[in-house]
Amino acid sequence: MTNYATHDTDVLVIGAGGAGLRAAIESAAQGMKTAVVMKTLLGKAHTVMAEGGAAAALATVDPRDSWKTHFRDTMKGGKMMNDVRMAEIHAKEAPDRILELEEWGAVFDRTPDGRILQRNFGGHTYPRLAHVGDRTGLEMIRTLQDKLVHMPAEIFMETTVTHLFKTGGRVTGALAYSRDKGEFHLFRAKAIVICTGGLGKAYTITSNSWEYTGDGHSLAWEIGADLMDMEFLQFHPTGMVWPLSVRGTLVTEGVRGDGGVLKNNKGERFLFNYIPEAFKNDVAASEEEAVQWVREVVAGKQATVRRPPELLTRDVVARAILNEVREGRGSPHGGVFLDIATQRKAEDIKRKLPSMYHQFVKLANVDITKEAMEVGPTAHYIMGGVKVHPETAMSTIPGLFAAGEASAGLNGANRLGGNSLSDLLVFGRRAGLGAAQYVRKNNPAADVNRADVEAAIAHNLSFFERKDAECPYALQREIQDMMGDLVGIMRTEDELTRALNALDKFEARAKKVSVSGGRVYNPGWHVAMDLRHIVQISRSIALAARERKESRGGHARSDFPNYDPKLAKVNLLIKKAEGRMQVVQQPRTEMPPELKTLVEEA
Ligand code: FUM
Repeated sequence: MTNYATHDTDVLVIGAGGAGLRAAIESAAQGMKTAVVMKTLLGKAHTVMAEGGAAAALATVDPRDSWKTHFRDTMKGGKMMNDVRMAEIHAKEAPDRILELEEWGAVFDRTPDGRILQRNFGGHTYPRLAHVGDRTGLEMIRTLQDKLVHMPAEIFMETTVTHLFKTGGRVTGALAYSRDKGEFHLFRAKAIVICTGGLGKAYTITSNSWEYTGDGHSLAWEIGADLMDMEFLQFHPTGMVWPLSVRGTLVTEGVRGDGGVLKNNKGERFLFNYIPEAFKNDVAASEEEAVQWVREVVAGKQATVRRPPELLTRDVVARAILNEVREGRGSPHGGVFLDIATQRKAEDIKRKLPSMYHQFVKLANVDITKEAMEVGPTAHYIMGGVKVHPETAMSTIPGLFAAGEASAGLNGANRLGGNSLSDLLVFGRRAGLGAAQYVRKNNPAADVNRADVEAAIAHNLSFFERKDAECPYALQREIQDMMGDLVGIMRTEDELTRALNALDKFEARAKKVSVSGGRVYNPGWHVAMDLRHIVQISRSIALAARERKESRGGHARSDFPNYDPKLAKVNLLIKKAEGRMQVVQQPRTEMPPELKTLVEEA
């Protein structure tokens, strides 16, 4: 029997990105004994990859903005697949959460009269993104961390949760191991909040770093929680494409929000050819109109004309770029050109987009104040996740909560840029509160079955027992390449079936990989344990994608290129039935009449 340390807590938060930090702050503020575990270090979270800003209808730059317009934009961007109540709560509460963050010390960029400055982003009718240059996520994480470390919460860094436990239908704990000491830890918890972010590492080209292997999605499903909307995956249109070593690294949408234009190798602003019918009224019809918009925005005026097509929603822009490249109009390294140099003064670019300036100088030897960037789509964000109650963020398993990218609902079929940062503040807080209320009301015993813990530890150690079997890294790479090829931006029935067959084989192989060395800082062992999650969440994406025989938002089928009105009425759930994944259509609830009117106006 391998030893493990045991920790008792009321609320265990898994993940320390924005949602996890905000959930932990709330839980601790509610008087709960709170522990936070994270795969790496405080401050290293995908939240920092939301560079361009946090969306909230503060109306500081354009007084015409309101929660109603934000709600409408979010629903329209999500192709009406969003959980309506979540979209309403988010639009109403986001401004308060941003102002609260400011009170806690976040230093946002300012308008000339000293209010929070807001920038334009795709799909948002008005300038709505409160930002700190192009380092907004970083500033948010810094502020939340500063707040949390002054609260009575225990922090466990470099600690990866590998299994969740349930007793009598309720969540009761989690097994984790610490990378720095190679020790196992059992957390007995009355409530658990999953804030593990996304799953970009199921793909080769991604803006995500190594931690994002869909752990929370997979762990929740394993103990019976429903997942929802897993077919909807966001490819951010602008990742770096060159040099290869940094392919996928994010190029913030803030570049386009501040006037950057996309061109193909003929110098054409090709997006004018891809404006969907539903957005015709929102987007400039000519280059002259788009140029006027930039002129007004640069002058700090309210825009009197429609925004440029570069600010179409991400699903549309990513598909357009893919099409340009496939039809031979791409850049030398397989992307398109993003040009801000001809649109803004060098000093403005360096002031508003300092990280982009340095990123391109350092990584690609490109001066973006003088030259265009080469960019292309990169797997960035999963709209699907753990199905949660909109008010409390509790999943379908009592005591198990989820927030941020690990949860589903707010974003529907496609997320608007900037909504993730406000999402994690709004629903991170609600999840922390929901968990505290659950613990207070139910006072559940955190009673973990010892045999379950021992079986989980034995599973984790089994990778050391095999000698000279397959290498976990090579297998991970094969899975990533397969997902990019068969479950990418454009999908077909045949490809998805091939992907599911491949995943069955990968699953068998993932159980048999072997690792050598010890338990301390052993990245190969880590990957070996992550493979289970990567396979499971990849399967959930492929299954849901095969079931949705239409194209909508972040799910595009070349064999079903249109919307299917029947499928607009259902969300797809991934359930657990006899140990396997099952995809089930869940009818959507009717929208309350007052919100329906708002949406219909759009
Ligand atoms: O482009 C960006 O700055 C990313 C923002 C987001 O994903 O919300």
